[in-house]
Amino acid sequence: MPDLDNKKILLGITGGIAAYKAAEYCRLLIKQGARVRVVMTPAAKEFIQPLTFQALTGEPVLSELFDADAANAMDHIELARWADLIVVAPASADSIAKLADGYADNLLLTIVLAASCPVAVAPAMNQHMWSNQATQDNIQRLRQHALLVWGPAAGEQACGDVGEGRMLEPQQLADMSVALFRPGPLTGRKLMITAGPTREAIDPVRFLSNRSSGKMGYALAAAARDAGAEVTLVSGPVCLNVPDSVTLLSCESAGDMLQQVTQNITGQDIFIACAAVADYRVAAVAKEKIKKTAEQMTLQLVKTPDILASVSLSDNKPFCVGFAAETSELEQYARHKLAHKKLDMIAANRVDDPASGFEVDDNALAVFWQGGSQQLPRQPKTDLARELIAIIARVYREARPVTEKT
Ligand code: PMT
Repeated sequence: MPDLDNKKILLGITGGIAAYKAAEYCRLLIKQGARVRVVMTPAAKEFIQPLTFQALTGEPVLSELFDADAANAMDHIELARWADLIVVAPASADSIAKLADGYADNLLLTIVLAASCPVAVAPAMNQHMWSNQATQDNIQRLRQHALLVWGPAAGEQACGDVGEGRMLEPQQLADMSVALFRPGPLTGRKLMITAGPTREAIDPVRFLSNRSSGKMGYALAAAARDAGAEVTLVSGPVCLNVPDSVTLLSCESAGDMLQQVTQNITGQDIFIACAAVADYRVAAVAKEKIKKTAEQMTLQLVKTPDILASVSLSDNKPFCVGFAAETSELEQYARHKLAHKKLDMIAANRVDDPASGFEVDDNALAVFWQGGSQQLPRQPKTDLARELIAIIARVYREARPVTEKT
């Protein structure tokens, strides 16, 4: 059976020279069994004729928001409901900006705004337009709104420049479309991950924090998404891009993180606490910048709330996975945390090796759960995350074999 059998895909085409490649993408989707409807912006029609897509899909191509001739065609709400997936390819800088702002001044934008299915955009533009901060901010906002951003690729551009901004090739877009519908071991599961450090204010300009970069937690978010989960990432301040299709909840202090987790934990199937939450905060945060007049000063610290324990000790708790960051006695401390916090699993890492753990791209984990353990040797965090998510999915299914979602 073709990979996209009977999947309903709405292909949105905006104004850009890469519009000609959308015809091949459209053909590949149909070849995989998809039913494709095409919506073009007025600018797109300057680059390629609607007739091309009409011939490929056997369906009328829609373009106008108010089209008297299209009385029998679906309106924008029906089209938004009809689609299993919307892909905007090519997505021009202008359309990306309008999507980020929630504009609805043409048919395609209106459909995207009304859609509840996954929406992917495949940016295509000149390299300087792509690297412009305004475009980058808009892309970031699209990601925060859970739109998928596919590409762009780097290479030679129609204008003669060489750089990032080319639309992905039609075959790559078709492969990504297929991958989106492939069920993974966590399909239908909701998963929340905490990641990164927290910052505990001392005064308006200073804070206590730690060396967590967020790389491990963000890699886990991407791996869980790839395994089919609907992922919410509760993140302290980091300098990383949010993985596509992952919902980001930003926070700063341990108190903020607890609040975000508490407000959004209901309905989550799995909770992974990867954040390096500060264990202590300053008892009284100075309202003004502390002057350096005293030769010595003492900060009084109080314990922060234990976010993981608050989830794992609650009623109707999700499957809880903790992390343990240790500099010695890895297994002993990890097993103690597993039992003490009533966790389902714990992933322990050493954080005294400069080549592994905090900040760097590599890590190694020792994973323990009731009745099992597994050593995951040092490797890139992206690979390690995939291995850990596979273990979590397996043990989760064994622990909660029959639920209403299976
Ligand atoms: O972000 P990177 O640079 O990629 O580095 C990854 C990492 C080393 C930070 C990560 O792999 C890791 O070990 N995260 C957990 C760090 C930590 O705080 O460990 P801990 O042993 O102090 O805490 C035990 C568990 O309780 C953790 O799951 C932690 O998230 C949680 N906790 C701790 C304190 C607190 N107040 N609330 C919590 O939820």
